[in-house]
Amino acid sequence: MIRKVRPEDFDELLKIEAEAFPKSQYDLGQFWMLHQSYPNTFLVEVSDLITGYIVFSPDGHLISMAVRSERRRTGIGTRLVQEALANCAGKPLRLEVRVGNVGAQEFYLALGFNWIGRAKGYYHDGEDALLMERPAALSSR
Ligand SMILES: CC(C)(COP(=O)(O)OP(=O)(O)OC[C@H]1O[C@@H](n2cnc3c(N)ncnc32)[C@H](O)[C@@H]1OP(=O)(O)O)[C@@H](O)C(=O)NCCC(=O)NCCS
Repeated sequence: MIRKVRPEDFDELLKIEAEAFPKSQYDLGQFWMLHQSYPNTFLVEVSDLITGYIVFSPDGHLISMAVRSERRRTGIGTRLVQEALANCAGKPLRLEVRVGNVGAQEFYLALGFNWIGRAKGYYHDGEDALLMERPAALSSR
């Protein structure tokens, strides 16, 4: 099930975040701010436990997402992106991803995203970002 995040989810999200983004993870304060800024588009996937999250702006910017490491490659990430696409219907969905994060790039390519550019030194440690976009014209399924 995919639902809006709740503050009581943050402890679990911090664990998912730590294993997903060893170089630049969100802390508790940032999760609170994202929750405040995107109350309707900060979502979690829940089964027996919280398995992943996605946060995006309603105008079509995918800000971050992560899936619990032992639940990856089971379709959870795909379901979360599909939910974002359904929410942003009619708009392209765009994102930034580290050049070194090849697994995530493969994931987005499989979902119909294209490379549209590169932002030099985008991350605080100096790594470049690849800019990817999924055209609005593609169906969300
Ligand atoms: C990227 C991420 C969200 C994908 O979530 P997921 O739930 O594992 O993705 P799915 O199971 O829906 O994968 C769908 C398809 O995407 C592709 N894919 C997903 N992860 C991949 C990887 N590491 N390498 C290559 N292809 C991959 C595959 O084609 C996969 O289908 P398959 O499993 O049948 O081969 C997850 O790996 C993750 O949390 N990574 C760490 C955090 C991160 O990088 N977030 C994105 C930052 S921009």
